Amino acid sequence: MIRPVGLVRVFVVISAISAILPILLILRTQPFLNIIPQNIRDEITARQVLSLPPLSPHWRRKAMMFKIDNSNQRFLTIGIPTVRRQHSNYFLETLDSLLNCTNQENIPNIFIVIFLADFNATWKYEMANIIEQRYSKIVRDGTLQIIEAPAEFYPSLDNLHHTYNDSIAKRKWRSKQNVDYAFLWLYSKELSKYYMQMEDDIFTVPGYLNVIKEFIEAQKTDWTCLEFSELGFIGKVYHSKYLEKLAKTVLLFYEEQPVDYTFLYFNILNLQGSRIIRRPTLFQHVGFHSSLPGKIQPLKDKFFDDIKKTLHGDNPPAKVLTTLKISPDFLPDLAYSKIDGYFWAQSAPVVDDTVHVLFDEPQNLEKVVILSGSQQHPTDKIENARLDACLSVKISGDNRIECFNNIFLGYSENGTLLANNLEKKLNTFMVTCLKVTFTKSQQWWLIIKEIAVFNYSQLDNLTESSELLTTRQSHGIIRQSHNLTESSELQNYSQLETISTESSELISTESSELLKTISRNHQNYSQLDNLTESSELLTTRQSHGIVRTTHN
Ligand SMILES: *[C@@H]1O[C@H](CO)[C@@H](O)[C@H](O)[C@H]1NC(C)=O
Ligand SMILES: *[C@@H]1O[C@H](CO)[C@@H](O)[C@H](O)[C@H]1NC(C)=O
Ligand SMILES: *[C@@H]1O[C@H](CO)[C@@H](O)[C@H](O)[C@H]1NC(C)=O
Ligand SMILES: *[C@@H]1O[C@H](CO)[C@@H](O)[C@H](O)[C@H]1NC(C)=O
Ligand SMILES: *[C@@H]1O[C@H](CO)[C@@H](O)[C@H](O)[C@H]1NC(C)=O
Ligand SMILES: *[C@@H]1O[C@H](CO)[C@@H](O)[C@H](O)[C@H]1NC(C)=O
Ligand SMILES: *[C@@H]1O[C@H](CO)[C@@H](O)[C@H](O)[C@H]1NC(C)=O
Ligand SMILES: *[C@@H]1O[C@H](CO)[C@@H](O)[C@H](O)[C@H]1NC(C)=O
Ligand SMILES: *[C@@H]1O[C@H](CO)[C@@H](O)[C@H](O)[C@H]1NC(C)=O
Ligand SMILES: *[C@@H]1O[C@H](CO)[C@@H](O)[C@H](O)[C@H]1NC(C)=O
Repeated sequence: MIRPVGLVRVFVVISAISAILPILLILRTQPFLNIIPQNIRDEITARQVLSLPPLSPHWRRKAMMFKIDNSNQRFLTIGIPTVRRQHSNYFLETLDSLLNCTNQENIPNIFIVIFLADFNATWKYEMANIIEQRYSKIVRDGTLQIIEAPAEFYPSLDNLHHTYNDSIAKRKWRSKQNVDYAFLWLYSKELSKYYMQMEDDIFTVPGYLNVIKEFIEAQKTDWTCLEFSELGFIGKVYHSKYLEKLAKTVLLFYEEQPVDYTFLYFNILNLQGSRIIRRPTLFQHVGFHSSLPGKIQPLKDKFFDDIKKTLHGDNPPAKVLTTLKISPDFLPDLAYSKIDGYFWAQSAPVVDDTVHVLFDEPQNLEKVVILSGSQQHPTDKIENARLDACLSVKISGDNRIECFNNIFLGYSENGTLLANNLEKKLNTFMVTCLKVTFTKSQQWWLIIKEIAVFNYSQLDNLTESSELLTTRQSHGIIRQSHNLTESSELQNYSQLETISTESSELISTESSELLKTISRNHQNYSQLDNLTESSELLTTRQSHGIVRTTHN
C-alpha cells in the first residue's frame, strides 16, 4: 500500500533531483508507482520499497541461501552481486583475492554478502554450493552470506525507457542491475557501519581494509561516498545508514540511468560536491567480459599499480620531503608508510634533486633499502643517485631541509639504493635524516615504491657487557648524545666541547676514524677526545651502544 509519508518522501527526492539536474526532468509517471502492490507480508518488492512499507525482518532470512543468525554489527560489509556469465568467470578469484588480502584478525570485522542475482535457479544452487564448500568456515559463521532475491522483487523489465540509445538487451541488463543493487543494499544496510560496493571480477592488494579504515578516519568533513577505485561501481564505500536512500534513488531511475551514473548524482543530491577518490586505488578489474553478453570491459584503473611492499622495514616515524614535483595521489610518505602505496614524482629528477627521510627521533640504523620503478612503469626508476646519512639537520620554514655531518652510504645500482652493515659504518651515531641526491638528470619520472629502514635492535642484546663501563664514563657520553639527539636546533657538534679525556678509550679506532672523516668534511671535532662527567640522562639502549663500541 502506498502510504502518504512514502509519497511525500518520494516526491521530495523527485523534486530535489529535478531542481538540480534538469537532465533528469524527463521523469514521467513510473509504471511501478501506479500499481499499488498486493499487501504481501514477509516479502518485499521494489514497488513496496518506494512506498515505504514496514519491512518484515523475515524477508532477509528468506533471502539467505544458507540460514544464519546475524551477529553484532561489524565494521564493513562488502557487497558483491554476481550473475551467470557466458564466458570467463572470475568470481571465485575475486573472493580469494578479497579474503587473501584481509588479515586473519580483520575477518571478524567484515561481512561479505554475495548476491546471486541470476534468474536461473539451477545456476544459483550450483554456485551457492560451490561457495559453501570452498569457504565453509566463514559461510557457517555468517561472515560470508549468500543471498537470492524473490522474482517478485523485480519490476517489469520489458518496454523499458529508451535512453542513451542503448539496445533493448542493454537496457534490460542495466535496469535489472539497478534493481539488483537496490536489493543487495536493503539486505545489507543493518549489517555494519559501512558498506562497500564490489563487482565480481576484481582483485585487490593486501591490507586494503586498513587503508579503507585509515581513509575513513582521515576524512575531516561529512562525506557520502569514498572511492577506492576509479572504475564503474567498484570500491565505493558508503555509510550503511544511507543505503536505503541510495536504493530508492537508484530504483526511481532504474529504467533511465545506469547505476554508474546514478551513484554520482546521489553524491551531489546528498551534498557531496566532488568525488573523493583514494589514490593509489585498491581494486582493479580482472575481467574483460562484462556480464552483458558481448559487452567487453577492458577498463583498467589508471591509478592502480599492484605494488606490494616486500621488505617490511621497521620504518620508525619519519617524514619524507623532496624537491621533486608532488602529486597528491602519490605522496612521498606513501613510499615509507607501512601500508601499500608509493611515491610517484610528477617530474623527472635533475642533478641535485633530493629525497629526504627525516626521522621524528634520531635512529641507530642497521640497513636502508630504497626500491624504485614498478612493473607497469619500469623506466620510472632511480638512475644515478647517492645515499647519505645525516647526523644533524636544519629545517627552514618552507620545509627546506639542510643536512650537516653527512656520512656517505652508497650509490644506486639498477634502481636500488642499498646500504647495510650500517652498525659498522655509523657506529653509535644516531641518524637524523637519510638523504637521496640525484647525481645526474634523468629522462623519466620517478616511482619510489618502497623505502625500508631497519633500526639497530641488536643493541638490546649487549646488556651483559655494561659492567665494562663505569657509570661515570657512560653517563658522560650519554649526556652528549642525548643532547645531540634532543636538540633540533643542533647544527654541529660544538656542544661536545666539554668532553673530557677520561673516557677517550671508549671510542674505538673505527669510530675515531669516522669522526676524523666528519671532522675533515665539516668541523673540527678534536674536542671529542674530551668526555665529560656524568648526568642523569643515561638510557639503557644508549649505553648498550657505547658498550658495543668498547667491544670493537
Ligand atoms: C588464496 O589463498 C588460498 C589458500 O588460502 C590459495 O589456494 C589461493 O591460491 C590464494 N588465491 C589468491 C588469488 O591469492
Ligand atoms: C541455467 O544454469 C545451468 C547451470 O549453469 C545451465 O546448465 C543452464 O543451461 C542454464 N539455463 C538457462 C536457461 O540458461
Ligand atoms: C542509435 O543506435 C542505432 C543503432 O545502434 C544507430 O543506428 C543510431 O545511429 C544511434 N543514434 C544515435 C543518435 O546515436
Ligand atoms: C625500531 O623502530 C621501531 C619502529 O619505530 C620501534 O618500535 C623500535 O623500538 C625501534 N628499535 C630500536 C632499537 O630503536
Ligand atoms: C635490474 O632490475 C631488474 C628489475 O628491477 C631486473 O629484472 C634486472 O635483472 C636487474 N639487472 C641487474 C643487472 O641486476
Ligand atoms: C638477541 O638475543 C636473542 C637470544 O640470544 C636472540 O634470539 C635474538 O635474535 C637477538 N636479537 C637480535 C636482534 O639480534
Ligand atoms: C655551530 O653551532 C654553534 C652554536 O650552536 C653556532 O654558533 C655555529 O654557527 C655553528 N657552526 C656551523 C658551521 O653551523
Ligand atoms: C645538555 O643538556 C642538559 C640538559 O638537557 C644541559 O643542562 C646541558 O647544558 C647540555 N649540555 C650541552 C653541552 O649542551
Ligand atoms: C682542530 O682543533 C684543534 C684544537 O682545538 C687544533 O689544534 C687543530 O689545528 C684543529 N684542526 C683543524 C683541521 O682545524
Ligand atoms: C681536553 O681536556 C683537557 C683536560 O681537561 C684540556 O687540557 C684540553 O684542552 C681539552 N682539549 C680540548 C680540545 O678541548
